[in-house]
Amino acid sequence: MRKGDTVSEETLDNLVHEGLTFPPPPDFAAQANGTADLYDKAAADHDGFWAEQARTYLTWSTPFTQSLDWSNPPFAKWFADGELNACVNAVDRHVEAGRGDKVAIHFVGEPEGDTRDITYADLHADVQRAANALADLGVGKGDTVAIYLPMIPEAAVAMLACARLGAPHSVVFGGFSAEALHSRIDDAKAKVVITADGGYRRGAPSALKPAVDAALDHGDTSVEKVLVVRRTGQDTAWNDRDLWWHEALEKAAPTHEAQAFEAEHPLFILYTSGTTGKPKGIFHTTGGYLTQAAYTNAVVHDVHRDTDVYWCTADIGWVTGHSYIVYGPLTNGVTQVMYEGTPDTPHQGRWWQIVQDYKVTILYTAPTAVRTFMKWGTDIPAKFDMSSLRLLGSVGEPINPEAWLWYHKHIGGGRAPIVDTWWQTETGAIMISPLPGVTTLEPGSAQKPIPGISAEILDDEGKPFTTPEQVGYLVLTKPWPSMLRGIWGDPERYKETYWSRFGEKYYFAGDGAKYDADGNIWLLGRVDDVMNVSGHRLSTAEIESALVSHPKVAEAAVVGANDDTTGQAVCAFVILRQEAVGEADEAGEGKDLVQELRNHVAKEIGPIAKPRSIMIVSELPKTRSGKIMRRLLRDVAEGREVGDVTTLADSSVMDLIKTGMAKD
Ligand code: WTA
Repeated sequence: MRKGDTVSEETLDNLVHEGLTFPPPPDFAAQANGTADLYDKAAADHDGFWAEQARTYLTWSTPFTQSLDWSNPPFAKWFADGELNACVNAVDRHVEAGRGDKVAIHFVGEPEGDTRDITYADLHADVQRAANALADLGVGKGDTVAIYLPMIPEAAVAMLACARLGAPHSVVFGGFSAEALHSRIDDAKAKVVITADGGYRRGAPSALKPAVDAALDHGDTSVEKVLVVRRTGQDTAWNDRDLWWHEALEKAAPTHEAQAFEAEHPLFILYTSGTTGKPKGIFHTTGGYLTQAAYTNAVVHDVHRDTDVYWCTADIGWVTGHSYIVYGPLTNGVTQVMYEGTPDTPHQGRWWQIVQDYKVTILYTAPTAVRTFMKWGTDIPAKFDMSSLRLLGSVGEPINPEAWLWYHKHIGGGRAPIVDTWWQTETGAIMISPLPGVTTLEPGSAQKPIPGISAEILDDEGKPFTTPEQVGYLVLTKPWPSMLRGIWGDPERYKETYWSRFGEKYYFAGDGAKYDADGNIWLLGRVDDVMNVSGHRLSTAEIESALVSHPKVAEAAVVGANDDTTGQAVCAFVILRQEAVGEADEAGEGKDLVQELRNHVAKEIGPIAKPRSIMIVSELPKTRSGKIMRRLLRDVAEGREVGDVTTLADSSVMDLIKTGMAKD
C-alpha cells in the first residue's frame, strides 16, 4: 500500500466507530431488485416467501404444490413434488423467449486477444451436443461425472450438459493434485472425467491431463471414459479410454430433448475441507438450490438482465463459481465475463483492462484479491476507465475495513455500493449480506441475513444473545432452499458436523461472530480446524496427514497464521523420524528438506496447500491428554508472546520451539 492512499488502521477504527457508513445512493436504490418489503414478506410467511421466489425465478415443468418439508430434520426437502431441468432454466428458456442472440459469456483467455463471445443460442447448441455426447458414453440420470477443467466456457457447458441429463457433476478445482483428484473421483464413483490438455496460467500453458492420467493409474477405477477439451494444443499422452471433446461433440446429434427431474434430484457434489483429513462431498439438489442462487444473484448482485455486464472472478472449481458463474447468472439470463488467467498476466492492470473493454457493471471478487491490488498500488487501476462499475461484491473471508474502503474508493470510484456476502459451500448461496439498494453499508460487516434467512449468535452454552461485542458462534435457525442435503454417502457425518454442536435446532456454521452496537453481524473467522487461505478452505488435519505421509516425517502440526495478503497462511511444525534427523543436521540439508516437504504437500493436495513455513522441531506442545495445543503454535507462527502454557504436559517444549525459531 502506498503512503497517502488510505488512512491507518487506527484512524480507520475510529472512523468506523464514529459511524463511517454508506447509505444506498438514491439512483441505485430507485432501480434495485432487492427492496425493503422483502424482509417483511419473508418474516410474515417464510415458506410462502420461498415458494414465491421459486415461481418467480424458475420455470417448472411440473409446478410444485408444497414448499418446505421438514418432517425429517435435518434432511430438508423443498418444492419436492415439482419437476424441472436446471439446464433448460439456464439456457433453453432464454432462447425460446427470443433472446438467443444475447451474449451469455464474453470469454477472455489469458493470452491477449484470445477472446470469444458465446450467445445463449451458442450455449444451447453446445449443451445439446455435449449432453448427447455424454449419453453416447452411457451417462444417464444418477451417474456422476468428474470435471477437471481450466476457466474456459467448456467448463460451464460440461456442468450444464450433466445437469441436462440428471447426472450429478463433481467439479474438482484445476489446482488440486492428482492425489486429491483421485480421492474425489473415487468417493463420487465418477463414470466419466471431463478435462483439458491444459490451460493458460501466468503466461504459459499449464498441463492438466497428466494429473487425470496419474489419478486413474491407481488401478481399480469407476471411470470408463475421459473426454479431453483441446485448449492449449500441447502434447498429451493418449490412452484407450480418452476421447477428444470436440470430436465427440461433432459426432453427437445436434438436438437433445431435456427431461424434467424432481426438485430434489441431486445436481452436484462439491468437495470441501472439514475438520478431519477426509474432504467432504457436499451435495446439492436442483429446485431449492437453483431458486436461491438465482434469487440472491438478483437481489444481492442486483443483476438486470438487459443492461448489466456481470463478472464473478471465482474459479468454477469452487462453490462461488457454481452459484455465481454458472447457475445464478445463467438462470437469470445475464451477460457475463469469464476470464481464464491470473490478474497479473501480462500486466497488473489486466482485470481493469477487462472492466474497461467490456464495460463491466458488477464485479464480485475476494478480499485477498483486493489486498493484492492494494499492494500493487492505486496508479494501476487509475489508468483505466472503470466508470461502468455500479456494484462491487466480496466473498470468501472477512473483508477488513481498510480493504473495503480501498475497494470502494479506487475500484468503485467512491460510488458503487459493496456487498460483503457471507455464505459457504454448504449453504449453496448467499446468506448474510446487505441489500445494496436498502442497507446502509458498514465497512467490514456482512450486516444481516438476507430476506428469507434466519441466523443467531450463540454463547458457549448454546444460548442466543444480542449483546454488542460479545463473541459467539454463528448458527442458522431455519432451513433454507439451497442448503446442502448431506455429505455424499455419509448421512451420519452430516448430522454430526452441522446439527449436533448446539442440538438439532441449529445449523452450526463453524464461524465465530459478534454483533456491533447497531445490530450488524461481524464474521470473525473459523472456530474449528479449518483455515482460510486466499478464500480457499483448507483443513489442518488434511495437511498434517499429507506431511506425515512423507517417509521422513514422524509427526506434524499445522496452524493458520494471520497473513496480510492471503488472510491466513499455512504454517507447519514437523517432527522428523529418527533416521532423518541426522541427515537434516548436516550442513544445508535442513533447507532442502523443508523444500522437499513443501513440494510433497503440493503433490498430495495441490499448490494452494503448500505451507508458507515449515519448522523442524523436536517436540510439539501437547496437553496431558495428548492433544496438540495449536493455539500456542499460532502464537509462535504470528510472532507473538506465547500465551498460557499451564495445561501443557511439558512446559519446556515451548522454550525449545522458540529457541529453534530464533535460530532460523
Ligand atoms: C468464510 C465460500 C467472512 C467463512 C463462499 C465460511 C466469509 C467459509 C465470508 C466458507 C464473508 C465466506 N465474511 N467470512 N463474506 N464468506 N467466508 O465453503 O469462514 O469456500 O465458513 O465458501 O468462508 O468457505 P467456502
